[in-house]
Amino acid sequence: MTKDRRSQGWYGKLDKDGFIHRSWMKNQGFPDHAFDGRPIIGICNTWSELTPCNSGLRDLAEGVKRGVWEAGGFPVEFPVMSLGETQMKPTAMLFRNLLAMDVEESIRAYGIDGVVLLGGCDKTTPGQLMGAASVDLPAIVVSSGPMLNGKYRGQDIGSGTDVWKFSEAVRAGEMTLKDFMNAESGMSRSKGVCMTMGTASTMASLVEAMGMSLPTNAALPAVDARRMALAHLTGKRIVEMVDEGLKPSDVLTKEAFENAILANAAVGGSTNAVVHLLALAGRVGIDLNLKDFEIGSDIPLLVNCMPSGKYLMEDFCYAGGVPVVLQQLRDHGHLRAATTVLGGDISVYAEGAECFNDDVIRSFEAPVKPAAGLRVLRGNLAPNGAIVKPSAASDHLLEHEGEAFVFESIEDMKANIDREDLPVTPDTILVLKGCGPKGYPGMPEVGNMPIPHKLVTQGVKDMIRVSDARMSGTAFGTVILHVSPEAQAGGPLALVRTGDRIRVSASDGELELLVSAEDLATRHAEWRPDAPHYTRGYAKLYVDHVLQADKGADLDFLVGKDTRPVTRESH
Ligand code: FES
Repeated sequence: MTKDRRSQGWYGKLDKDGFIHRSWMKNQGFPDHAFDGRPIIGICNTWSELTPCNSGLRDLAEGVKRGVWEAGGFPVEFPVMSLGETQMKPTAMLFRNLLAMDVEESIRAYGIDGVVLLGGCDKTTPGQLMGAASVDLPAIVVSSGPMLNGKYRGQDIGSGTDVWKFSEAVRAGEMTLKDFMNAESGMSRSKGVCMTMGTASTMASLVEAMGMSLPTNAALPAVDARRMALAHLTGKRIVEMVDEGLKPSDVLTKEAFENAILANAAVGGSTNAVVHLLALAGRVGIDLNLKDFEIGSDIPLLVNCMPSGKYLMEDFCYAGGVPVVLQQLRDHGHLRAATTVLGGDISVYAEGAECFNDDVIRSFEAPVKPAAGLRVLRGNLAPNGAIVKPSAASDHLLEHEGEAFVFESIEDMKANIDREDLPVTPDTILVLKGCGPKGYPGMPEVGNMPIPHKLVTQGVKDMIRVSDARMSGTAFGTVILHVSPEAQAGGPLALVRTGDRIRVSASDGELELLVSAEDLATRHAEWRPDAPHYTRGYAKLYVDHVLQADKGADLDFLVGKDTRPVTRESH
């Protein structure tokens, strides 16, 4: 066994400190040879009953342990903060950076040589990756995997996407409240993450496309026995990675991020990927900015999954999953050469991939939509950028000019959106302020405001909505998000008034407030930020230090990494 491992700084010392580190671990029944210099592998687990999407991770941890033992390592599982997207208030995103801190400090403080990251629900994957990247020990991901397809009255229904559809149908009087409530149990009928191409499956797909997991990790259903086998294989692989010294900084290169952006376009991935990739790039020192996302603009939508298409993740898995997408990107000359956790190039993930359903995974020649990548918009309403997802939008609204109707806060929107005398038409542009990183705080998924009741009952299904918020990866509509700087930071969004005209051009990348610079300067002089909602604790730290959406909404003092060894002992 190699004796110069990091873990030997804890367990290899024949002194009082080594005694303390080993002896207390032995109370769990580990024999002497567990500390003989073999790689100690942390299994960083976000299992929680309050994060239902990650409720299968205890089982997967056992699979990882089998693989680690088999390869001659010593697995040790540890918990970190878990972020249940559907359960946390005001929004799980407020705590992504707190999870990242927890992961980073746990990895650094403990005597481990490498780490397997067990996550799944939306913020757990990026939070874990960000933390692990800042320590830069060998790391690999195993995801929860998607739930089985939702079922209701014999039809497939998708997590989130059909919640928004059913909810609008109830408001339009097209669905009874009883039927709506009955759909709950059928929607979530196994362990796992949302089975639409929401943020969780998007991030798992991008992790695979970046080479930070083994191939097929993204789409295998949570309850498929092959996921347990994948966990086992991942446990074996991390032991080898430790011996090879293969670290996140070797894998998370600019080319890997570009592959993630290309894959995000091809799978119809979530807009949330933008803030997470930007934040992760900041951790590993990669110069990534919103402009880089434009390389995905011309990539066609290949994966026909909700919310941009009609199928679900289980179908995507059976059709071949991410390896087929990578194969198509490779064959059309888009895939960048990049190292993976397997040590070889990402193109290896595409080797031998076979598409078993060409309606679920389309070809470049017959895509679901041509040119589906996220569009970055700029202009005097978003000097540092905003984004829109054309694949989930209405084509006729992507080039549009209309009058703004402004909601000053989320409370204002909720109190008034269903007023029958609301002065809006299908051409109105709804504007929502105060939902950015500092404003809400935490930049929640409220950007896809409901269609006003008076319009939804007329059959209006979509209209332009503009905000500094995010939206769920399962949502759809012509929704302009992440306006930066946000209103609470004094961005021009704060100055928009009802009746102003706004011009949107996705093809030209424009978001313009048609108000003169002089008028905006006058308004800005009169503008004051809202009083903060939080004045203590982590939320205050967050509000004081969070970066804007175009920088990934990380905390300013967490950008970058610290790979120095910890030399001081605890006793
Ligand atoms: Fe957890 Fe969708 S809410 S993955």
